[in-house]
Formats: sequence, structure tokens, C-alpha cells
Amino acid sequence: MMVYPLFNGLSAMKSISIKFKEPRQKGYQVLIQAGQISRIQASLKHLHPGASAFVISSPRVYGLWGKALKGFPKHLVPDGEQHKNFAEFHKALKALAAFGRGADRKPLVVALGGGVIGDLAGFVAASYKRGVPFVQVPTTLLSMVDSSVGGKLGIDFDTPQGRIKNLVGAFYQPSAVLIDPAVLKTLPQRELAAGLAEVVKTAVLFDRPLFGRLEASVPALLKGDARLLEPVIAACVAHKAKTVMKDEFDLRGARALLNLGHTFGHAVEAASKFKLLHGEAVAFGLCCAVDLSARLGLADPELMRVEDLLLRLGLPTSLKALPMKAVMAALSQDKKFEKGMRFVVPKRLGLSVLLPLPPKHKALVEAIFKARFR
Ligand SMILES: NC(=O)c1ccc[n+]([C@@H]2O[C@H](COP(=O)([O-])OP(=O)(O)OC[C@H]3O[C@@H](n4cnc5c(N)ncnc54)[C@H](O)[C@@H]3O)[C@@H](O)[C@H]2O)c1
Ligand SMILES: [Zn+2]
Repeated sequence: MMVYPLFNGLSAMKSISIKFKEPRQKGYQVLIQAGQISRIQASLKHLHPGASAFVISSPRVYGLWGKALKGFPKHLVPDGEQHKNFAEFHKALKALAAFGRGADRKPLVVALGGGVIGDLAGFVAASYKRGVPFVQVPTTLLSMVDSSVGGKLGIDFDTPQGRIKNLVGAFYQPSAVLIDPAVLKTLPQRELAAGLAEVVKTAVLFDRPLFGRLEASVPALLKGDARLLEPVIAACVAHKAKTVMKDEFDLRGARALLNLGHTFGHAVEAASKFKLLHGEAVAFGLCCAVDLSARLGLADPELMRVEDLLLRLGLPTSLKALPMKAVMAALSQDKKFEKGMRFVVPKRLGLSVLLPLPPKHKALVEAIFKARFR
């Protein structure tokens, strides 16, 4: 990680580079600095001289932070996961095509918003003219530490079995990610806490010292203190970047580790009909992953600290009972459990492993859910 000196009274800028082995695949930088949104127009000019920017955002985020991108054409997608769908993808593409009509040059798509906007706008950029450059400007904690980095994009899609999350999408890397932790001051508390669940996940996976720092600063974390969050976000991005560089297309198992808590989490997220926020479901899922590790006799006792920290962050570690049939159906979509399933199992802080569980362990997994339902 590079740290650049103070500039314009802003804190030092941290820069994390992402590079790929494939020579045609250009790398990019993730730039993290509180306050940088105020000079985003200059940053875009510097990154893409002469490019015509096209902003995709949501009414809420654009209303709060869009001033910095005034003057650029924009398309707003209504807020909420339910709008990460094909109809909104189509509308955004149509708006971009209308803007780009007759122009030879490729437009630059700027995604200003949380993970919903980043995933949808990125997929628009990946699809239009077989790919135009795009810059991620994530505005939720979750999108800063997770979804904006790594190039996974897409939309939810309706099937005869119902809507499936992220069913249609692409791997397509942004040309830069600009993270301004100061924008978190307008983020609702519940969304901030949900993002902190992914931060805890990253610390459990890769970074014992970070876990200790989180334990020592719960009140400041819950206030969304940008000065404290800046290095925390940088640490999480650095871990995600390292993982993505090892396994860009999610083929080698490295990226699969990022699913710690997510197999259990996705199941309750879907069974709650998405009333639980993704990060809340992940918090619950992290506790289940620790339980699984304990029941398999693999857990170091220090993993008890995970549930304590999540509780102090106000995240759910137990839930009002959800229908077990729906939970297990969501867990083993396409009957995956009948052939066995892979789980990420933490052994101690900073070390997790990918473990295939044979079908006979289905009852064990069910028991783990049940024990955490009230
Ligand atoms: N591509 C990936 O690798 C990846 C990884 C994880 C999650 N995701 C996706 O990310 C999405 C979830 O993202 P999210 O948690 O950021 O939710 P989100 O994008 O829905 O944002 C949550 C809410 O916060 C509001 N908001 C955003 N920034 C704000 C700000 N600064 N101030 C005030 N309000 C603000 C939004 O308008 C929205 O209502 C899901 O669709 C998930 O599938 C993708
Ligand atoms: Zn997640």
C-alpha cells in the first residue's frame, strides 16, 4: 500500500494497486481518502483525460453527494435491491446509448452509490459497446470494503423458481475505485453496522491485529468516524485485493474464502425474504460458521470473541425462528447438499479453511441454524 503526503488539507491518500498476470488485463488503483469527493472531477480528468463521464446513481445518494459531479449527464436508478433488475439495467443502458449516440469515443461510466448501484452500473459498463471504462465511487461501507473491488458485477433475475440474486452478470474490472470515507456520515446506522459485519468477516479471515483494533474501537466505529474508518477500510481493501489478484475469476478457491459466513448468511437472508440486510445475515452466518467449526472440533476458543464483537456492534447473532424448510431450500439451492457442500470454516482468528461437507452433515447444519433461532 502506498501512502501519499497531505494534499489540500485532506488526510494522506492511501493507494492500493490491483494487478493481474494476464497482460491484456489492465490493473487499477483503489484510492482511499476522506474528503476526496470534493475534487472528484479533477481525479476523473486525471484518470481519463478527455473522456465524457456519465454518472449512474440513486436519487438518495445523488441528492446527498451528487453535487460533486454536477455538470455531468446522469441516470438515476431507484434505491433498493429490488431495483437491481433487468428492467432498470435496460433503462440505464438506453440512457447511456442515448448519451453516446453518434459519439466515436467511449463514455466513462461513473457509479456513485452502494453495492446495488455499483453492481448494476458496472454491468451496464461491461455490456455497452462490449465494455467501456468505469469508475466505482462506493458510498456505503459494504461497497467500500467489498463489492466495489474485484470486478464482480450483475443483476438479480426472475426465473420460474423466483428471483435469484446476481444470476446474470460479468467479471469486468473498473478502471479505478475512489473511496471517500467521509460520505459515510450520511449513511443510516443500520447500513453502517451491516457494512461492519463484512469488516469483521475480513478480520476473522485474514487479520488478527485488525480484529483486536475493531474490539478496541466499537463506539467510534458505530459513529462512522471517518478518521478511524479510513485505515480499517484500507486494510480490508488490501486483503480483498490480494485475494482477487490470486483468483480473478473465482476458480482457484482463494476467492471462495471470502464467502466465510455467507453460505449460512445467504440462506437466512433469502428465507427472511430479504428483510434482513445482507450484512446482518452475514453476522448471523459468521456465528454459524464458528459453531460449525466448534462442532467439528476445529475451533480455537478465541473464536468466541467473534460473537461478542458482533453483539457489541448491534448485529444479530440469533434470529426469530425462520421456517426451516425455506432456510434449507435456500441453503442448498439446486439440491447442492445432496452432493455435499463446501463451507468456509474458521479455525482461529486469521485462519480459515475451505471444507467440503458430505450430505450426511445436513442434519448438523440444520441443528446449527436451530440453535440460533429464538
Ligand atoms: N460485486 C460484489 O462483489 C458484491 C459483493 C458484496 C455485495 N454485493 C452487492 O451489493 C449490494 C448491497 O450493497 P449495499 O449494502 O451497499 O446496499 P445498497 O446499495 O442498497 O445501499 C443501501 C442503502 O444506503 C443508501 N446509501 C448509499 N450510500 C449512502 C450514503 N453515503 N448516505 C446515505 N445513504 C446512502 C442507498 O440509497 C440504499 O438505500 C447487493 O446487491 C449485493 O449483492 C456485491
Ligand atoms: Zn457479503
